[in-house]
Amino acid sequence: MALIDFGGVKEEVVTSQEFSIEKAREVLKNETVAVLGYGVQGPGQALNLKDNGINVIVGQREGGKSWGNAVQDGFIPGKTLFPVEEAARKGTIIQFLLSDAGQAEVWPAIKKCLNKGDALCFSHGFSVVYKDQTGIIPPENVDVILAAPKGSGRTVRTNFLDGSGINASFAVHQDFTGRAKERILALGIAIGSGYLFHTTCEKEVYSDLTGERGVLMGCLAGVMEAQYNLLRKNGHSPSEAFNETVEELTQSLIRLVAENGMDWMFSNCSTTAQRGALDWAPRFRDAVSPVFEDLYKSVISGKETQRVLEANSTVDYREKLQRELDEMRNSEMWKAGASVRSLRPENRK
Ligand SMILES: NC(=O)c1ccc[n+]([C@@H]2O[C@H](COP(=O)([O-])OP(=O)(O)OC[C@H]3O[C@@H](n4cnc5c(N)ncnc54)[C@H](OP(=O)(O)O)[C@@H]3O)[C@@H](O)[C@H]2O)c1
Repeated sequence: MALIDFGGVKEEVVTSQEFSIEKAREVLKNETVAVLGYGVQGPGQALNLKDNGINVIVGQREGGKSWGNAVQDGFIPGKTLFPVEEAARKGTIIQFLLSDAGQAEVWPAIKKCLNKGDALCFSHGFSVVYKDQTGIIPPENVDVILAAPKGSGRTVRTNFLDGSGINASFAVHQDFTGRAKERILALGIAIGSGYLFHTTCEKEVYSDLTGERGVLMGCLAGVMEAQYNLLRKNGHSPSEAFNETVEELTQSLIRLVAENGMDWMFSNCSTTAQRGALDWAPRFRDAVSPVFEDLYKSVISGKETQRVLEANSTVDYREKLQRELDEMRNSEMWKAGASVRSLRPENRK
């Protein structure tokens, strides 16, 4: 592990320098990693493991689109692709990557497939932390570990192919074999993590649910909409409102933040922009802080996970979700966005 200073607080992290891919292969050489679920994370992790020379099989219910995707990606039915329970029986590390609601649904069957000394691995603390809601209580004779990429499964794969990585947190929730830590570090490196940082399943799920409801997705969508509506209400054109709200952020400013931090982005903007942004940032921070407080409380209380399980377990879940996403896509703001994107030089070629 390397000791890194994060703004004055020292934390231990693991990269492929401390834990090489060769070491990961050595640790996992007698293991079969069964990736259960081939939705968003499943393909990213399974393909990276495969390309890194790890013995990997996929477990997926037959007949659906995801089964077809696994076949298309080179997994062979009866050889490296099986129905979920069969894969769980064959695996020694069970990478549980069904949707969180799906995990709760299939758990009674999966539990029966676990052998003494297996490792049950999650990419989210949801299932084991909110066990009163999910019913997922692993037996005592298995390791329970977590490697949670901090990004979409899609970028887990594309970053790997680009020679980059997605940072991930890791946790040992239960160490039956005494090998739980080396197993999860090996797995974390082999799925293509940029660097691995330590967490617990509790901390992972609380921060993850807060992040995606907050700045990463929910808050982002909300504040963008608020600013776009304000500009439209005051007579600005859709093109102007969208460029000032979204396009300038995604095509220019956020790239500077990614490159070198917020101060770097500020220092590459006009003095007019800097002065205003520095003055207004504390007002926005103070305005949204109470909302973030409510959000964190709602996460800790289990209200958020309860809602997810209830919503995702209805038979028409996908149709309802699609209707909500269609509504977003068909709003003036995001239709304007499609037009703006179509005008990017690279899209006009
Ligand atoms: N999405 C991400 O990028 C991301 C990022 C970090 C962590 N995670 C975590 O990774 C895990 C997987 O998430 P995900 O987003 O990849 O899930 P997802 O895309 O929703 O995956 C759904 C998968 O689960 C299967 N499934 C759902 N319900 C099922 C059921 N009742 N029986 C059998 N199979 C069922 C689906 O099969 P069908 O296609 O046949 O329905 C599909 O293969 C979750 O714990 C999530 O919190 C996800």
